[in-house]
Amino acid sequence: MAKIKQNSPVLFFYNNSKKWLAKISKNESFHTHIGILKHSDAIGKEYGSKLITNKDKYVYLLEPTMYDYVMRIQHGTQIVYPKDIGYIIARAGIGDGQKILEIGTGSGSLTSFVASVVKPRGHVYTFDVDEKFMKIAEKNIKKAGVSKYITQHNLDLKTAKKMPLEDVDVALIDLGDPWLVIPQIRKMLKGSGRLFAICPTMNQLEKLTMALVENEFTDIESTEHIIRNIEARDGKTRHSFQGIGHTTYLCFARKAFFDRPTRKDMEKSITKIVKTPTKTTKKTPTKTTKKTPTKTTKKTPTKTTKKTPTKTTKKTPTKLS
Ligand SMILES: C[S@@+](CC[C@H](N)C(=O)[O-])C[C@H]1O[C@@H](n2cnc3c(N)ncnc32)[C@H](O)[C@@H]1O
Repeated sequence: MAKIKQNSPVLFFYNNSKKWLAKISKNESFHTHIGILKHSDAIGKEYGSKLITNKDKYVYLLEPTMYDYVMRIQHGTQIVYPKDIGYIIARAGIGDGQKILEIGTGSGSLTSFVASVVKPRGHVYTFDVDEKFMKIAEKNIKKAGVSKYITQHNLDLKTAKKMPLEDVDVALIDLGDPWLVIPQIRKMLKGSGRLFAICPTMNQLEKLTMALVENEFTDIESTEHIIRNIEARDGKTRHSFQGIGHTTYLCFARKAFFDRPTRKDMEKSITKIVKTPTKTTKKTPTKTTKKTPTKTTKKTPTKTTKKTPTKTTKKTPTKLS
């Protein structure tokens, strides 16, 4: 039986829109519209127990999941939501022990969730160019308890000369122009490695798909994931008015080898042809029997019987009587 103690993470749950995530610290308490919640009252209780406030309202003490952390994350940027993260993990086959590359850490939502799936043997290497967002992400990642499985880098891979990783299992991209990093990602992915890009607009999907084909990716798939909450109540179940609207489109692909000649290959083969004199059997004039003019019987003009005008009997007008 897991009991709550000092430093235990707890989700104080009143209802779906009123819930608070905290790390238990015996001297802390917080004031809410349903009364005061004292951390010390939670210590020694089992997860799932109730706690009564001074206003006689009760909250449940729940063990938080990664979903709870991500849904309550401090937003520095737009984040990727669990509804999309779930599909990303399933479709890309993300699992324990994998090496994950992420470009665009943002607030660290996707980073944290993926780290919680690849741990304890896997690792997420995440890149961002904005130090302000990197700091926010660092805090969020720490709160989610997955810092050990994540390395943050301040590096722009669009312009990087040397690729910092190799043999990557899955690459995740969340930046405005994902098509610009596809060649770099290709270099770091292992054969058949998977890729997911988060694209809020369809224009991004188009440009990205063209870049994926150009860079020899296959199994390219673009999707949108819509979640509809249902309010299930006795005799009056209906769709909820709440819910997340459009968030993003997702684009998945796998690295392949098309075996088509690259421009470099073509250039090489062209220079080969030009430079190395191919052992072409120098065309020694084959003893071609010099075409001695065959005794062509000089066409002597055949005696054409000069058409002498045949004596045409000049039609003399017949005398009409
Ligand atoms: C929408 S946010 C990512 C949100 C993140 N996926 C999450 O779930 O919290 C996009 C991030 O990409 C970063 N970014 C933009 N250009 C970049 C680049 N060339 N390399 C790395 N990161 C970049 C931005 O600084 C920003 O933090």
